Amino acid sequence: MIAASATALIGRTPLVALDRIHRGSGRIVAKAEFMQPGGSVKDRAALAIVEAARSDGRLPPGRTVVEMTSGNMGAGLAVACAALGHPLVVTMSAGNSEARARMLEGLGAEVVLISQVDGVPGRVTGADIAAAAAAARRIAAERGAFYVDQFNAAEPIHAHQFGTGREILDQAGCPIDGWAAAVGTGATFMGVARALKAASAATWCVAVEPQGSAPLGGGRVSKPGHILQGTGYGAVPPHWDAPLMDESMEVSDTEASDWRHRLAAEEGFYVGFSAAANVCAAVRLLESGRLRRDAVVATVLCDTGLKY
Ligand SMILES: Cc1ncc(COP(=O)(O)O)c(C=O)c1O
Repeated sequence: MIAASATALIGRTPLVALDRIHRGSGRIVAKAEFMQPGGSVKDRAALAIVEAARSDGRLPPGRTVVEMTSGNMGAGLAVACAALGHPLVVTMSAGNSEARARMLEGLGAEVVLISQVDGVPGRVTGADIAAAAAAARRIAAERGAFYVDQFNAAEPIHAHQFGTGREILDQAGCPIDGWAAAVGTGATFMGVARALKAASAATWCVAVEPQGSAPLGGGRVSKPGHILQGTGYGAVPPHWDAPLMDESMEVSDTEASDWRHRLAAEEGFYVGFSAAANVCAAVRLLESGRLRRDAVVATVLCDTGLKY
């Protein structure tokens, strides 16, 4: 079968068992989102927003698209905009890795780097993100462009519910007992949790948060800077649907680094820190004894590690 374009390659990622990293009882199955054209789970969100805006007239053919990104949304948008013929401008905190800006420019986007407010390179805070978002809104207004506004868009949640979530159920072919995912906009966590809980209300859904920056679990934000880039912005996202979360698990920078190394060395998956934090939480959930002995826990390998 011949795919019609890059956008036709978005979604339908493989589901892979992490049987080498977790040899105890139960099983972890992970969506290989790093295999998407833009290299991350955000391709689904980007395409969902762009397609909706094109179909309801908010984004006429050829109009410029503007968004704030930590890198992955920008890459997803760059793929969608290239294939659909829209110029793209992205604003990004200068605290994100340089490789991200290079990748976005390589995909044809105009990248505007915004100085950090209170973070340091490699550790982007909520205030840094707010500054990049304000710049994106200003540029969109100045250029009469379409502002993506991923944190306030509902389409990504639907894309994960009817895409990622349904795919997990179909591919696993068995009930899913647990789900663990880190939260940026929360679209991945919420969309998949909705699909899994609709299939089995008992599915235990774990929101993964950086240690010291866990407002979803009711914690005080004492450490806004962390290495789980793309997630854990120290605030509850606008569309957050709290009853979908059964538990919040905090993962430290050290744990994320260790699991990232293990995923590469023992499974052959060179992925980013949020993916590693997700797997850390999935293992913890299986080891907690909360689920049945042969439980299946689903998670997501959010992005490739090549741009860190
Ligand atoms: C590396 C990485 N992991 C996880 C996420 C979280 O995805 P979501 O916005 O769907 O919560 C993002 C979002 O940008 C990300 O870049």
